[in-house]
Amino acid sequence: MHGGRDVANDASTVFDVVILGGGSGGYAAALRGAQLGLSVALVEKGELGGTCLHRGCIPTKALLHAAEIADETKEAAEFGVLATFQGIDINGVHKYKDDVVAGLYKGLQGLVASRKVTFVQGEGKLSSPTSVDVNGQRIEGRHIILATGSVPRSIPGLEIDGNRVISSDHALKLDRIPKSAVILGGGVIGVEFASVWKSFGVDVTIVEALPHLVPLEDENSSKLLERAFRKRGIKFELKARFSGVEYTETGVRVSTENGKQIDADLLLVAIGRGPVSAGLGYEENGVAMDRGYVLVDEYMRTNVPTVSAVGDLAPTLQLAHVGFAEGILVAERLAGLKPVPIDYDGVPRVTYSNPEVASVGISEAKAVELYGKEKVVTVKYNLAGNGKSKILKTAGEIKLVQVKDGAVVGVHMVGARMGEQVGEAQLIYNWEALPAEVAQLIHAHPTQSEALGEAHLALAGKPLHAHD
Ligand code: NAI
Repeated sequence: MHGGRDVANDASTVFDVVILGGGSGGYAAALRGAQLGLSVALVEKGELGGTCLHRGCIPTKALLHAAEIADETKEAAEFGVLATFQGIDINGVHKYKDDVVAGLYKGLQGLVASRKVTFVQGEGKLSSPTSVDVNGQRIEGRHIILATGSVPRSIPGLEIDGNRVISSDHALKLDRIPKSAVILGGGVIGVEFASVWKSFGVDVTIVEALPHLVPLEDENSSKLLERAFRKRGIKFELKARFSGVEYTETGVRVSTENGKQIDADLLLVAIGRGPVSAGLGYEENGVAMDRGYVLVDEYMRTNVPTVSAVGDLAPTLQLAHVGFAEGILVAERLAGLKPVPIDYDGVPRVTYSNPEVASVGISEAKAVELYGKEKVVTVKYNLAGNGKSKILKTAGEIKLVQVKDGAVVGVHMVGARMGEQVGEAQLIYNWEALPAEVAQLIHAHPTQSEALGEAHLALAGKPLHAHD
């Protein structure tokens, strides 16, 4: 234990909030709660920062950046730069990635300590609606926030052995670069690892049950990503449901229900993440659950008045920034403020593959479902017309979805660095901007943000660098 009072010597303490789980959701609630004057205990069995910092967002984005450098080295001659790609030093990649994580981890530990949050290292369990048991002692709280997160999921009969059949946790630590890999699941994790591995020289095949990669995105984005992946030589089988895996002499043979068989060195299972809630006392204390998720209302309240849940444990979008927002919302509610419920459509989503896929708001299909076909207007702006994208030699599009004569309700972008454009896109969506209002704003030239401006110029009926 570090970072605060010793709760063991302070048994009479009743905290305002006891938080179970120190990932994005839990630590954001702790920091915001402490900032608002609440006394906070934060219980964590592993490392503060949780999945995002140690096994998710941060290390994977470091790998993706190393992959980008590999690609740029290989393509240097196209830019008139003489460089020779000699290969990937996987230990060097891990060192770089681990240094990034270590630096952020240190910073976070300092932050939690400086806000006077009582950090308790140990595996906690909900022991009553107002207490958590950890290390043989009981920590009482007027309120409890459950934030125990998620772990990689598998399917019955598919055993993750950590060697030939691995999850993203193993993939992040892999001490070798396989010659070939099958990735089960063409969602965010599958697509990001496919991108990294291809850049590292791996022969990659994605197996996805649904008709498209990143199936939660607007279909146009999925198609653009598929086109780009085809060009990069990343293979994928769509509408292909997994049926089995067997070990071969050197690796695995993966079979799909539509009769395909793919041999590879290893199989990465990326078919989603499931909640961590079993055996933690939630059900025993009357917390309503559904398939392991803790059910919450729009204020992240469970059915037990003293218990809230945030982050991947709740059946909302499994994203770190959603966890932050949910944690902050609960802390503010408990401190007596009046936070506004989260509009989940307004949460920006980024897949950091090469190319990146970024979006906010709703897809065209969803807009048609909600408003009717005749009320939905769309425009696509091709990055080929954008100077900075041309300089970067990236291809892609920005697609806008608008309710006729109304606000922009969807922004869908594919291309290098599009994740960095999602900040403006989310302001446009969340402030319910009209195309003409955005068209009025001047975008710096030459930037990729101009493409977003140009798309709005087109939607406002006055396209500039676009063919009619
Ligand atoms: P996911 O739910 O995004 O994708 C899983 C994919 O596997 C789906 O497309 C699904 O159709 C497919 N699938 C499921 N069962 C299958 C089967 N039997 N055969 C073939 N395909 C099958 O889950 P993923 O990629 O594992 O990510 C987990 C969570 O982590 C997601 O909520 C994701 O948003 C989050 N995450 C976010 C990142 C980001 O924001 N950049 C990065 C990585 C993860």
